[in-house]
Amino acid sequence: MAMRIFSGIQPTGELHIGNYFGAIQRWVELQHGNDTIYSIVDYHALTNEDTVPAELRTARRELALDLLACGINPERSILYLQSDVPEHAELCWILGCVASYGDLTRMTQFKEKAARQEFVNGGLFYYPVLQAADILLYKADHVPVGEDQVQHLEEARRIARRFNSRFGETFPEPEPILGEGARIMSLADPERKMSKSAGPEHYIGLMEPEESIRRKVRSAVTDVGLTPSQEMSPGVANLFALLELVAPREVVEGFRRDHAAGKLLYRDLKEALFTHLMAALRPVRERRAKLVSRGDVDEVLAHGAERARAIARETMREVRARVGLD
Ligand code: AMP
Ligand code: TRP
Repeated sequence: MAMRIFSGIQPTGELHIGNYFGAIQRWVELQHGNDTIYSIVDYHALTNEDTVPAELRTARRELALDLLACGINPERSILYLQSDVPEHAELCWILGCVASYGDLTRMTQFKEKAARQEFVNGGLFYYPVLQAADILLYKADHVPVGEDQVQHLEEARRIARRFNSRFGETFPEPEPILGEGARIMSLADPERKMSKSAGPEHYIGLMEPEESIRRKVRSAVTDVGLTPSQEMSPGVANLFALLELVAPREVVEGFRRDHAAGKLLYRDLKEALFTHLMAALRPVRERRAKLVSRGDVDEVLAHGAERARAIARETMREVRARVGLD
């Protein structure tokens, strides 16, 4: 049965292979046989205090081009900018009034981000409510994301349940769709997830120059953090996890046998990973290079926004009636 799929990604810098293998690949696959809606969540990006207006404007467009290069097809999916559909903000407010303050204080991502900065804006605290609004505005039942978003999805389900029990059955409870690459770790510090916020040495950009990718793979941390009870250090486990995503099974099994026999050379493992990774990314990188001149990306986004808005307006009509605002 066709599912209504929704997912979002923040326009904060370049896409990395964690985003790609963790989420975007699933976005692309799900376009076949489902009703797919993908949003560049620029309202969410405003929670990052270092987001500069001119950069945000460019980043949204660049991300749209990246997503098209990855295989998001605007004929199959609705692709749009969140802020082109202000109903997101309206529903966010209403849902905030059914969300539990206590639940929001327990969100790990909020706690981690808040602990790292001196000034914590209210938007950062409300981030999961806006995310719930994104999903529920389209009554999506499935949400392809990486593992770090599972807690936010649980919160979205709780919010949907509270709304439904207070105002009557309105929203489905959205389920995450997690893929094989749902948690890719940093090559420089395999105890933390690959992310843009940790700095360039912690992620591999999808469009990064080949030489720079080679250098990062070669210098991946391997031996640190191995406890006596573990067979594999977190760094080596991460290299295997990545290799599994890009190389044929025989190749991975060969390296696993070497590892079990105690004769694995990390240099060879890294070389193989680099080669297969580049081969896996090549089609996306080539498409992206051609898209540089694609002049119609603004039209693609405008058309996406129009279609998204038609659905969003419908939901808001219903929500306003349910809560007594019309
Ligand atoms: P973000 O860049 O934080 O907006 O994330 C966009 C999507 O990529 C979300 O679905 C995340 O869960 C996913 N993602 C981000 N980092 C990783 C990672 N290191 N491993 C797997 N998925 C990730
Ligand atoms: N919080 C998500 C992230 O950082 C991005 C996001 C915003 C999202 N709204 C969403 C993901 C709705 C899924 C559904 O990755």
